[in-house]
Amino acid sequence: MKLVKLLANLGYGSRSQVERFLRQGAVTDADGKVLGSRDFPPHAAIRFKGEPLDAPGPLTLMFHKPAGYTCSTDDPGDTIYDLLPARFALRNPLMSPVGRLDKDTTGLLLMTDDGQLLHRLISPKHHVPKTYQVTLDRPLEGHEGELFGGGTLVLRGEEKPLLPAKLEVLGGQEARLTIEEGRYHQIRRMFAAAGNHVVALKRVAIGALALPGDLEEGEWRVLAEKELGKLRS
Ligand code: URA
Repeated sequence: MKLVKLLANLGYGSRSQVERFLRQGAVTDADGKVLGSRDFPPHAAIRFKGEPLDAPGPLTLMFHKPAGYTCSTDDPGDTIYDLLPARFALRNPLMSPVGRLDKDTTGLLLMTDDGQLLHRLISPKHHVPKTYQVTLDRPLEGHEGELFGGGTLVLRGEEKPLLPAKLEVLGGQEARLTIEEGRYHQIRRMFAAAGNHVVALKRVAIGALALPGDLEEGEWRVLAEKELGKLRS
C-alpha cells in the first residue's frame, strides 16, 4: 500500500489532503526525516505531525460515553464523534460502535473495525452479557428479578420474548441488570414493563471486560491485547 493510501485509510485526511500534508512536511520518519509519497518505511517508524500512527487495524478502542451524545451521525445534536479524534470517523474500514447506547446512557462503549469481533459481541446467538447499572424513579417492588429472569417477558410492540436477564438489587432504587441482547431502549422498556422508570443508566461491562475505574467520562483508549482476549474468551 502506498503512503498516501495508508494515511487516507487511517482517516488522517482525503487523498488530496494527505498529499498536501506530505508536501507540507507533516509526515516524517522517527528521526524527523520528511517523507514523500514514494517513501514507505515500516508502520511503526512513520510519524504524522510528530505522533506515531494509529494501528493499521484491526483496531478496537474503549470509550467512556458521557450523557448527551448520540452514537450515530444520522441523529441530530452532539455525537460521540465530537469527542473522539476526527480521523476515527474517516477510517476505512469504518470504526463502528459495538452496540449503541442511548443519548442519555453513559459508560462503556467499544468501537471497532474488526467485523468478526463486532459480530461476536452484538449477535444474540453468542450470548455475550452486557451489564448495566440502573437508577430508578421508584423503589423496586421485588417481582422484577422473576419478571426479567423468566425468559417470557414480551416488550410492548414486540412478539418475541426477551432472553432471560439477571437482576442484582443494589439498593431501593439501584440495580445491576445483565442482558444478552440489545433491543431498542431495552432496559428502559423492561423497567417500564415492570411499572417503573429508569432515571440513569450506565453500561459497566461487556462480557468479562469492565469499564476501568480510571477511564473518566469522555476519555478513550485503545484496548490492550489482554483486554481483547477477555472479549474473545
Ligand atoms: N438499554 C437501554 O434502554 N438503553 C441503552 O442505552 C442500553 C440498553
